[in-house]
Amino acid sequence: MHKVHINTHIKNHYTKTLLFEEILERLKQQGIDPDIITRNDLNGVDEFHVRGAEVSREIAKEINLDGSQVLDVGCGIGGPARMLADEFNCEVTGIDMSHEFILTARKLSALVGLRDKTEFIQGDALELPFENGTFDVAWTQHVQMNVNDKARFYSEIARVLSDKGIFIYYDVFRKGKDDLDYPVPWANDPSISFLGTILNMDTILTNLGLKKVQATDQTENALTFFSAMFEKNNKNGNQNLGQDVFMGASSPEKFGNLLKGLKEHKIVLQSGIYRKK
Ligand SMILES: C[S@@+](CC[C@H](N)C(=O)[O-])C[C@H]1O[C@@H](n2cnc3c(N)ncnc32)[C@H](O)[C@@H]1O
Repeated sequence: MHKVHINTHIKNHYTKTLLFEEILERLKQQGIDPDIITRNDLNGVDEFHVRGAEVSREIAKEINLDGSQVLDVGCGIGGPARMLADEFNCEVTGIDMSHEFILTARKLSALVGLRDKTEFIQGDALELPFENGTFDVAWTQHVQMNVNDKARFYSEIARVLSDKGIFIYYDVFRKGKDDLDYPVPWANDPSISFLGTILNMDTILTNLGLKKVQATDQTENALTFFSAMFEKNNKNGNQNLGQDVFMGASSPEKFGNLLKGLKEHKIVLQSGIYRKK
């Protein structure tokens, strides 16, 4: 069998030691008792994509997910998985290459009482450790921009979907040439950034036998979100339990470059749904 090796540069980019401990510490600093943490307390940190839980909820409402077996490809620390389990009655398996993220995802799910409905596995999206047709839904948010082999990424997703399975994505896509300023949230330099176009994704998915159900341009929503975020942070400083937990001190620069790319129409954000025919 063709063996895929996880790109260590990408893995290092998403390695953050003592992440769980840092999240707990920040919650304590906000006066939140670690013994009675709710999902709501994790809002702002456990979804690592533009517009966090708000956009995930909107996307999930686009289609009936009730009772689905969901795979979250590149699940991070599991916020979207917990939301789908808690609010949409799904059973969710998350897979991510980052060992630290998977450990953190498991601990956070246990803390908020969702251990039974969420499971987290360390692994590579390009070599999903599941049988063909295992899941009703495959869900992925802000992952493929780190994946060079797009054909393999989408064909693995299609393979593990059941006959009438649904694929849901929310992603950053390239519009023109990738001459973004770096760092951005997913890469400190262009060597681990593999931005694809929407057309390329659509061609691959169509060739795999998936049919487009719906697509939403999320770029304007992101621009509105960022201008509110920067305004608030300029006024008050960044006091939230936010995504700087992952990105560290360069977080404003990374968000700034992402915002610049969106404003200059070099990149776009889109969510959408495909269905296996
Ligand atoms: C920006 S984060 C998004 C996390 C999560 N989807 C969310 O929205 O909260 C990107 C995630 O993709 C994961 N990732 C990137 N390439 C991957 C691969 N080939 N296999 C598994 N996970 C991958 C990273 O480890 C990271 O957790």
